[in-house]
Amino acid sequence: MKILLFGAMGQLGTQLQRTLSQHGEIFPFDIHNLNLENTGAVREIIRRVGPEVIVNASAYTFVDQAESEVEKAFMVNGNIPGLFADEATKLNAFLIHYSTDYVFDGSKGALYVERDQTNPLSVYGKSKLAGEEAVRAGKANYLILRTSWVYSRNRSSFVTKVLEWARKQETLRIVSDQVSNPTWARTLADVTAQLLGKGLDSLVEYCGLYHVAGDGYASRLEWAQKILELDPNEQEQKVKELLPALTSDFPTPAQRPLFSALDCSLFRSTFDIALPKWEDALQQAMMEP
Ligand SMILES: NC(=O)c1ccc[n+]([C@@H]2O[C@H](COP(=O)([O-])OP(=O)(O)OC[C@H]3O[C@@H](n4cnc5c(N)ncnc54)[C@H](OP(=O)(O)O)[C@@H]3O)[C@@H](O)[C@H]2O)c1
Repeated sequence: MKILLFGAMGQLGTQLQRTLSQHGEIFPFDIHNLNLENTGAVREIIRRVGPEVIVNASAYTFVDQAESEVEKAFMVNGNIPGLFADEATKLNAFLIHYSTDYVFDGSKGALYVERDQTNPLSVYGKSKLAGEEAVRAGKANYLILRTSWVYSRNRSSFVTKVLEWARKQETLRIVSDQVSNPTWARTLADVTAQLLGKGLDSLVEYCGLYHVAGDGYASRLEWAQKILELDPNEQEQKVKELLPALTSDFPTPAQRPLFSALDCSLFRSTFDIALPKWEDALQQAMMEP
């Protein structure tokens, strides 16, 4: 099976290169060999490779920067997924795309399910929602996996930042009013491989949008606490106190939802694939980056 992978050097893409290789030949592309804004070249590559599966792990993920780079964010997150859906239809290829909890405004006060009303607060969230809509509007067979708070240790993430801050500062102030599901990029990559392992004929029956994230949820403060606790090189830490802060204490260009944790039960019951507890996945991530 030919698998065309976009965003191959990102947090998720890096892990997908490893986990998807058991299912076929991977054709990896990233900004270094193909800028997705060059849509003509993107179409040409897709036609030249002629994949059975297109996996889109690429995204413009700079949430704050997106507020001032609106066009770019909408191009990569909104338009390109539509182009993938269009090309996938022509080739009868299956499309796997990822989206975000930031399509919600966080006002529900409970776990979000797939059919909940979206209302993104930021340009990033709006552009990702546009991407979801473009894929759904197409005629390709697809899965959209909406996920949350993705981290890895091979690229800058909340986890790498907390570890870095802890080595430089004695006091860390972390927001306690933002809550969601920390999700290890490898978990998402494993889940994607398990999906492909079910065979494309079987996936076609279950096309649609699913929530997929680490099991359970936490505030950023609780997440940071756990990161520090599980740090295998704890002796390098300078930090003496971890204090709660409010989102409003750290004004940022983009507004983020406060409670955007995802309910993943539809995914579990449809595909019978387990999602590890976020704390267990974090423990593993800290042991083997
Ligand atoms: N990170 C999170 O907390 C989070 C949360 C919820 C959902 N998600 C979603 O999960 C998926 C994977 O996210 P991730 O964390 O793995 O993202 P990531 O690490 O930022 O990776 C995205 C990749 O896309 C590439 N890219 C961006 N613009 C491009 C362009 N114009 N042409 C070609 N490549 C381009 C990036 O290249 P560069 O090297 O230039 O960056 C990067 O390698 C995305 O759909 C994201 O929206 C992420």
